[in-house]
Amino acid sequence: MVHADASNFADDVTKDDAYEQVLLQTEGLCTGQRNWVCNLANAASLLWHAYKSLPAPSKDVNWAGFYVLDKSPSNPQLILGPFQGKVACQTIDFGRGVCGTAASSKQTQLVADVDQFPGHIACDGDSRSEIVVPILADTDGSGEKKVVAIIDVDCASLNGFDELDKKHLEELAELLAKSCDW
Ligand code: SME
Repeated sequence: MVHADASNFADDVTKDDAYEQVLLQTEGLCTGQRNWVCNLANAASLLWHAYKSLPAPSKDVNWAGFYVLDKSPSNPQLILGPFQGKVACQTIDFGRGVCGTAASSKQTQLVADVDQFPGHIACDGDSRSEIVVPILADTDGSGEKKVVAIIDVDCASLNGFDELDKKHLEELAELLAKSCDW
């Protein structure tokens, strides 16, 4: 049963507990629902409210959401998906910016200072740090996991993210990979 209370986090919640709630609620919301638009939209809401309930720098998150694979045969690229925050660039080529680098390398990008990341795409000039986690799934049964989407979170403070964010966002990526039809 979907309830808006899922996005309420305790005032004194720890980062570990906030992510645990995000994961548990995402798992619940994905039960019986495999549509990626629907599931990523609720995951973006959970992430946003989790960050806003935490102390700085987490509460300085200014964008949290997803880009998904645009499968157009002539030009596979990332295209804007569900998110919370200000409007953002609509498409990103593989290999471009932090998101495109995560997609082409299939590796999490933890960026303490976006100004030090070559090719960073400044959708929102307030962003100072960023973490991007690829969502990988075997969509054609070949056994090879391919990028189906990425999780992108921006923070208006330097060093907004650490290994704890990386660990939990990678868990969320795994959960979403298996919970949606891509
Ligand atoms: N900064 C990203 C672009 C997406 S926005 O942050 C939402 C990048 O360099 O890929």
